[in-house]
Amino acid sequence: MRFDTLAVHGGERKPGPEGSVVFPIFQGTVFTSEPGEDYHDIKYHRLNSTPSQRYLHDKLAALEGAEAAVATSSGMAAVTTILHTLLGAGDHILVSDVLYGGTYDFLTGNARRLGWEYTMIDPQDPASWAVRPNTKAILVETITNPLMRVARLRDVVTFARAHDIVSVVDNTFASPVNFRPVVAGFDLVFNSATKYLNGHSDLVAGSVAGSAELVEKVRHTLNLYGGSLDPHAGYLLARSLKTLGVRVRQQNANAQALAAFLDGSPKVSAVNYAGLPTHPDHPHASELLAGYGGMLSFQLVGGLPAAEVLLSALTLPAVAPSLGGVETLITRPAVTSHAGMTPEDRAAAGITDDLIRLSVGIEDAEDLMTDFAEALDKV
Ligand SMILES: Cc1ncc(COP(=O)(O)O)c(C=O)c1O
Repeated sequence: MRFDTLAVHGGERKPGPEGSVVFPIFQGTVFTSEPGEDYHDIKYHRLNSTPSQRYLHDKLAALEGAEAAVATSSGMAAVTTILHTLLGAGDHILVSDVLYGGTYDFLTGNARRLGWEYTMIDPQDPASWAVRPNTKAILVETITNPLMRVARLRDVVTFARAHDIVSVVDNTFASPVNFRPVVAGFDLVFNSATKYLNGHSDLVAGSVAGSAELVEKVRHTLNLYGGSLDPHAGYLLARSLKTLGVRVRQQNANAQALAAFLDGSPKVSAVNYAGLPTHPDHPHASELLAGYGGMLSFQLVGGLPAAEVLLSALTLPAVAPSLGGVETLITRPAVTSHAGMTPEDRAAAGITDDLIRLSVGIEDAEDLMTDFAEALDKV
């Protein structure tokens, strides 16, 4: 089955309970169990094993093209549970030097306490990656925030296999519509399902997918750390997954149109979007990705004062962080997602104060471009 068919039919129980076409929410936390059942198989919400949870896991696995998947209570619960599963005291991990702020803060703030070692690597430069005898894993992101760099993902898979370490990728910005990491050879993929997977900016969740063996290990860690997903949020997430392909393709098309429009404006000095031929990663992104995603960033010739005028002049985009929803959101990373970094670190990473990040929604592209044209006229 192709992606859109999987989105609707993947993981579905046929017939559903009581003949229900839509899988219901099992709100109950506990179910009867057999004598001698393994602890992790007892049907209890925190053990991620109830019918509603297993249904969602099967749907996520189908969309990722993976043997198995597990949902978590947030994207951060997904990544921290993966790290706690793969790393013990004395182990080492290679991590991208451009990571989501929460992942970065978790690692840099806790690795020493946990006895983990890490090395930051440039995901664009495979020649610089080096394992140690205690290296267990490599962690990268498909499309980075906020400059939309696309990692050398095929090289990561080859490298991890050659050195027998676990390859892990945060696919939040791409979603499985644009890139299916497990199909491409990654051992584990995770998402902040808060973003594109849910797509309606109304719940917080995470997902992890990979081989049945690895996902089961992650689930066992999750069962004890406690980051399980509430059944009602799981129900909403499963419902949203059915429209994932339709939403993300529209977001891809809108972002491509807006990126080209902004690139052509004399008031815009730079646009970061891998779908533009001028983006440094365009050649390999074109080979890897089915679409370049709904995220882009840009700068105005007039710098920060112009950025502030633009943000207040736009009428359709809401000024807010987060991403992946059906509504267009706009933000300045220096004061939101990357506010925790020092100005020097931000400057070194190319995140200037005037950089504007856009999460493009599913509105009509013409309306978005008209809104931007009118707002740019005021700059
Ligand atoms: C790329 C990426 N990974 C992980 C996360 C963490 O997700 P959550 O907020 O669902 O915990 C985020 C959140 O913004 C993100 O953008």
